[in-house]
Order: sequence, then C-alpha cells, then structure tokens
Amino acid sequence: MADYKLIDFQIKGDERGSLIAIEGGYDIPFDIKRVYYIFDTKKGVERGFHAHLNLKQVCIAVKGSCTFVLDDGKRREEIRLDRPNKGLFIEGLIWREMKDFSPDCVLVVLASEHYDENDYIRDYNKFLKEVKNDS
Ligand code: TYD
Repeated sequence: MADYKLIDFQIKGDERGSLIAIEGGYDIPFDIKRVYYIFDTKKGVERGFHAHLNLKQVCIAVKGSCTFVLDDGKRREEIRLDRPNKGLFIEGLIWREMKDFSPDCVLVVLASEHYDENDYIRDYNKFLKEVKNDS
C-alpha cells in the first residue's frame, strides 16, 4: 500500500496543558495552502468517496476519532485517527472514505493546494482507470 504515512507530532506539554505546532515544510512535507475541518458529523455518516489527481493532505482528528479507508486500486486499508498528535499524510492516487466519526470528532485537514473541483475523481471506476494509466 503506497503513498500514505502516519506522522507523530510533538506535544509541547507543560503544567498548563498541551500544544502542538505544525509548520509547513518542517513538520509536514509541503507548504499549507488550505485548512478545512469537518465537525458535528451526524451519526452513521460516511464522507469522502473520492481521489485527487494532485493534492497532498494531512488529516488530524484534533478531537474525538474517525476512521479513514484508503484504497490504492489494489488494496483497502483502514486507519483510525484517534489522537491530536497523529497525522495521516496522503498523496498520490488514493481513493478515500471517512466513517465512524465520534459525535465530538473535529477532523482538521491541511492541504497543499487551494480547493479545485477539477482535481477530484468522484467516480470509483474512473479512479480505477486512472490507476491503470498511472502504472
Ligand atoms: P465534499 O468534497 O463533499 O466533502 P468530503 O468529500 O470531504 O466529504 O465537500 C462538501 C462541500 O464543501 C462541497 O460543496 C465542496 C465544499 N468544499 C469547499 O468549498 N472547500 C473545500 O476545501 C472543501 C474540502 C470542500
């Protein structure tokens, strides 16, 4: 399974509590152009169901937890994000789905590019064709 990795962010804790700082190019392997977050996700909701042609992302459940399903066209893998110092770095042609959001989940996503609907592949068969062309 290619093109994803887990990143452990350093927690700068002291007697007051905890702090994590993420700097583009240092803590994650790209400059951050966009930040978005998903929260108040309703029970049983599944999201995503797309791949990207040219986007790098780091996903962090800064509160609560959720599960990512990553699919490279050959294998599917599930990754549970459940702590604020755990980042999921995704790049390349990967189909992603998100599910099992805890009611308190705040999922922050750091992205390498501005929002561009043309970068999305939202059809699974088209995704498989794109993987074939790519290999
Ligand atoms: P959508 O792509 O459906 O979310 P996901 O695939 O992660 O479940 O996005 C929901 C809406 O938000 C859709 O109308 C597009 C919009 N959107 C933006 O305007 N900017 C963004 O950066 C993102 C991720 C989505």
